[in-house]
Amino acid sequence: MPGQCVIGLQWGDEAKGKLVDLLTEGQDLVVRYQGGANAGHTVVIGDAVYKLHHVPSGIINAGVLNLIAPGVVINPPTILKEIEMLAERGIDVTDRMRISQRAHVVMPWHVLEDQIWNEILQGDENIGTTLRGIGPCYRDKVGRSFAIRMGDLGQPNFADRVRQVTQFKIASLAGVSSDPVELDAEKIIAEYSDYARRLLPLVADTTRILLDAVDDNKKILFEGAQGSLLDVDHGTYPFVTSSNSSGVGISAGSGVPASFLTKIIGVCKSYSTRVGGGPYPTELDNEIGQHIRDMGNEYGTTTGRPRRCGWFDAVAVRYTRRLGGVTSIALTMLDVLSELEQIQVCTAYELDGEQIDHFPANLEDLRRIKPVYETYPGWQQDVAGARKLDDLPVNAIAYAQHLERLAGCPIEFISVGPDREQTILLDSTHSLSNALNAKTA
Ligand code: GDP
Ligand code: IMO
Ligand code: MG
Repeated sequence: MPGQCVIGLQWGDEAKGKLVDLLTEGQDLVVRYQGGANAGHTVVIGDAVYKLHHVPSGIINAGVLNLIAPGVVINPPTILKEIEMLAERGIDVTDRMRISQRAHVVMPWHVLEDQIWNEILQGDENIGTTLRGIGPCYRDKVGRSFAIRMGDLGQPNFADRVRQVTQFKIASLAGVSSDPVELDAEKIIAEYSDYARRLLPLVADTTRILLDAVDDNKKILFEGAQGSLLDVDHGTYPFVTSSNSSGVGISAGSGVPASFLTKIIGVCKSYSTRVGGGPYPTELDNEIGQHIRDMGNEYGTTTGRPRRCGWFDAVAVRYTRRLGGVTSIALTMLDVLSELEQIQVCTAYELDGEQIDHFPANLEDLRRIKPVYETYPGWQQDVAGARKLDDLPVNAIAYAQHLERLAGCPIEFISVGPDREQTILLDSTHSLSNALNAKTA
């Protein structure tokens, strides 16, 4: 199994960080390949909690090389803070991490542009971004004229480049910003030259490292950020992020050929959440939604915003499972549903009086559809201590089995808490149907 990937099948925060940490042992490399500091990945090992925005979640495990590939956009102060946080906790990234010289840099004007557009787009139009400058940085990457890459930091023409771009940004933003545009080229040059001095020792040609690793049949684990429904091409556009956060982005962002990937693990919660604006068919804007938020501590890892919560949407997950070529599912947060008497799952949508079983491409259709639900009995028993399938109540196993059937893909992991240890591994012997048969015999 040389090439494995962990991707989110919903709107992000599915517990990808936990899965990546869990699967890192035995890997040679762990690779972040898209997104940037908008991601917030949590790894919990006993009392230690690591919140990672930039550094791959494989970093805690010694002996693994962590790469940040060209498809990621880098925020220098954020990554430096994270490197410091890790150093304080005994993890020195010097020999454990490399950043691609091709990766684009999020500059102060990108963050400013993100803020300005967030203020301009109000109500139903507001994307509710993480305000980390992600969209503007990717826009400049594709536009080419004003982009700065990691390899450009510290180059002789860096200062002139910053002066040129700053001038353009001030002129273009002055027309839309209600406040004076505060961008000081000389201050930026001084600040980013210092970042360059500290980060350049970590900058390398990660594409070459990866292609050599592919030739040597090394084991590589790819860590997706965000979730498939936030994919810029295949998600709920324009309420998406600015990268390919579904399975289609792995090869483009990392530089590793798609044929190298043999296993794609799709992570999904036992319910669903979404942060920011955009359509969300199974949203529960009521006391059940609040209960899930409380039980799951559903507040953003990056922004602290309360996450919108709702039932599991099997139509959406079936779509993203197919889109990503997912080979197995990691079902997370099963413990969060433990107190509920009944649990609902969306199995189809109703659109203009007709039942449909596909995820609509049209935003207005997505806004209008009504979810069609199936209702299952809850288990009302704490499952956080379960370590094998047999430890789970019958109704919890049956619920997972319904999701497996509806998603159309085997479940390989069930997570019942944030800790590494709170994970149940499934295989052909320890399958949901075997466990259910044994329990009901
Ligand atoms: P990511 O962005 O996909 O890595 O996920 P986040 O880290 O943003 O959000 C997941 C949150 O749920 C984190 O606080 C995790 O520590 C926590 N978590 C992970 N798995 C479980 C689980 O099975 N049950 C519960 N209750 N929390 C979990
Ligand atoms: P992880 O990797 C959840 C959401 C934002 C917003 C939209 C666009 O932790 O799962 P952006 O700042 O990317 O331009 O915001 O995408 N978003 C996330 N939601 N988890 C994430 O990352 C997210 N990254 C971006 O809330 O709705
Ligand atoms: Mg997150």
